[in-house]
Parts: sequence; structure tokens; C-alpha cells
Amino acid sequence: MPASFFIVHKPNELSFRAQRGICSFSAPFLAAVTLLSSCAMPKTALMCPPTFFDVREVKNPYMRMPIDRVRAEQQWDNLRQTLERSGVNVETISPVRDLEDMVFAANQVFVGYSDKIGKFIVPSEMRYLIRQREVPFYVEWFQNRGYKIIALDLKGECLEGHGDLLWHPDHSKIWAGYGFRSTRGAIDKFSAAMKELGFPVIPLHLVDDHCYHLDTCLCPLNNDAVLIYPGAYAPEALTAIRDGWKRVHELTRDEALQFIGNGIVANGNYITPRLTDNLRSILSKENLTPVLVDTSEFEKSGGSVFCMKTFIE
Ligand code: ARG
Repeated sequence: MPASFFIVHKPNELSFRAQRGICSFSAPFLAAVTLLSSCAMPKTALMCPPTFFDVREVKNPYMRMPIDRVRAEQQWDNLRQTLERSGVNVETISPVRDLEDMVFAANQVFVGYSDKIGKFIVPSEMRYLIRQREVPFYVEWFQNRGYKIIALDLKGECLEGHGDLLWHPDHSKIWAGYGFRSTRGAIDKFSAAMKELGFPVIPLHLVDDHCYHLDTCLCPLNNDAVLIYPGAYAPEALTAIRDGWKRVHELTRDEALQFIGNGIVANGNYITPRLTDNLRSILSKENLTPVLVDTSEFEKSGGSVFCMKTFIE
């Protein structure tokens, strides 16, 4: 049976976009690798400094000019320090001139670990041209650190990394949003590849354009509890979420649009740009401590804390 993806081998091979066709699953990578805990707390995050951050092209309903660059730098530094104080090690990738959204490190690749092949990434196919240019820089960063590259043949479909693809905290499955950025066709191809590694993917149809990425309306809090804005989903998606979690905590639309569902769970903290009474009560039920960080400059681009990092282990 043909595999639904192929793995790029050479360290400098960045032409995955141009590669088409089907290769079979590569045996050397099936070698045993160190087993990581399947439910490890996030330990290391990758961030990209906002040196060239800007709002130029309107890609989502939040985007508005102008950016205060000094404040953006301060807010980014503060998020980095907040993560570090929460026990997260932060690594950085060099920003690239003219790639104004490269600071949103959640989007360029999907990061995973499989007992079969070890650490891997799935490069994104970004919807906007300018953002497609970010992907090879991230791919190179991961490739230099020994991650396998699972290159999907996306043929004009879009897949936007951890903007739309969220691990269940125990890494038993992947929640996958589509409708505004990632396409259903891409999610289906991603699902086929993940199935070969033993990870089920649950597609979730998004219907509110202010919740254009899944990370704006779904935040896993622990293996049993999730934070969602229910109005962001088509009915069958909402059913899948309610079937997949023991406790589903709901945000209002107003809270979701303030990026309250775009938080980061790190070692007992919930890092969030804002705190409401509703969020406070949800977090206390789940034994999480709210930690506030201001991300107002990045919200002018449609992103907050979750979007500004990707967990790499
Ligand atoms: N301006 C960026 C875009 O529209 C924001 C990306 C936010 N990232 C996220 N993971 N939600 O692509």
C-alpha cells in the first residue's frame, strides 16, 4: 500500500514544495528511538523575535495598522520571560526581513513525536503567499536539529500548522480545524499520514471568521478538559468536541475575540492576554493559575500568546 507522505532525508533539502509523487515509508527511520513521555508537560518552545513584525496585508478580521514596534518588542520579551518563569525553555529562530508574520511561530510547521520515526514536522502550506515564504526557514531550523520532515503532497490545499492542528494533551490524537485557513482536503491528507503513525485526527469545521484558526477557539487545558467558544463550530464539530472531552468549558464570543481561548498552558499556569470572571472560575476548577501578559500589538495582526510560539518537546 502506498504511503500518503514521504520523508525528506537530506539536511539541506528544502525543495519539499516542489516534490510530488509518492514514496514508501522509509525503513531506517523505524529504528527504535528514545521514548518520550506521551503526556510530557511542555518544556521547550520556539519563538521568533518581532524585529520585522508589521501589519501590511489584511489576512484576518483583526488586522489593523499601525504597529507600535517598541511596544511589540516589549510584549514579546515579556511573553518570553513569562514562559521561562513558567518553566519553559525558549529557543529562537532568526527573523527574516519582509516576513512580517514570521513572529507567529505556531503556523509554519506541525511538530510531533512518534515511536515509529522519532521527532518529526509536517511543513505547512500557508494560504497567503507572503507567509509561504516563512516555511522553509522553519523547516531548515527543525531539520538542523534532527527532525524528520513529513512532506505532504498538498496540491493547492492549505495547512497552517498549530494554528489549526492541536495535539490532545496526552498526544493520543490531533484536533484539526478547517474552513478559513486550512482546507478540508489538506486535513484529509494530513489525517492519512498521521494514521500511519497511529494518530487519529478529528476534523472540526470552523464557521466564524473571527475564529479563523482553531487556536482562537479551542485550548486543551488537560487530558479531560478543554476551553472552547462553541459558536465557532459547525454542529458536527461541536458534537465531536463534546464526545472527546470529559469537561468542556465555554467562553463567550466576546471572550474568544479577546483571545482568551488563545492561551498557553505551561506547568500549572494559563498564560492569557485577559482574565474574566468566567475564565477565572474555569481555571480554578482545573487547578490552573492565570498569568496575564499584554499582547495588544500582536492582536492587531490577529494573534496572541498561543500563536507566538510552537512547543518543540
Ligand atoms: N497575521 C497572522 C495571519 O493572519 C496571524 C496568525 C496568527 N496565528 C495563529 N496561530 N492564530 O496569518
